[in-house]
Amino acid sequence: QTIRSTNIFRVEHTIPLEARWEANGHKSGILWMTGLSGAGKSTLAFALEHYLFKKGYLVYVLDGDNVRHGLCSDLGFSPEDRVENIRRVGQAAGLFARAGYLVITAFISPYRADRDRVRALAPEMFHEIFVDAELGICETRDPKGLYKKARRGEIEEFTGITAPYEPPALPELRIDTSAQSIEDSVAMLSDYVLSTFSLA
Ligand code: PPS
Repeated sequence: QTIRSTNIFRVEHTIPLEARWEANGHKSGILWMTGLSGAGKSTLAFALEHYLFKKGYLVYVLDGDNVRHGLCSDLGFSPEDRVENIRRVGQAAGLFARAGYLVITAFISPYRADRDRVRALAPEMFHEIFVDAELGICETRDPKGLYKKARRGEIEEFTGITAPYEPPALPELRIDTSAQSIEDSVAMLSDYVLSTFSLA
């Protein structure tokens, strides 16, 4: 990525990340949820956040629909805009993780290369969660009526209909929301978090 500024110098943080983890009682990192619209990313992200918050975790959800009202309000759904959306969110998630938070992101993030670029920012902190549901099931759920609109041609470049989705090749976790309940999916996620982010 090109850096336009000149005469800029990195400053080292004086508080080691491990000291933050020790103070918080858990490790930090990014749980990156990816999947089609209607697959269940936001539902699972907020349910997991609730569960972990109750357990005393520093946890925060970054969600596509919300971020697109602010940080990314200048972006649409063209391929270039999606790339920039994920780049910004990746940077923001990295800041949260370095601040000691467990950040849960819920973005379609349809391009493998974009997700891999976020992973490369902090490989040891990045956990890719494939929230998997068949297109037909997402379309039947259609919680916001967007698939219907997309089929009627009222939304351009709609993921799964007129825009691509590239599933992860090797996600850390795959949650099949077509086959299991929300409760079972949250249980899988919380087991994963408790075993991965606990201090040894
Ligand atoms: S992306 O591809 O990662 O940049 O998308 P994201 O920031 O996650 O935003 C997805 C939400 O935007 C709504 N929406 C669309 N999705 C896909 N394609 C098109 N064209 C589109 N237009 C609007 C939709 O509500 C998505 O939310 P989720 O929660 O995924 O259903």
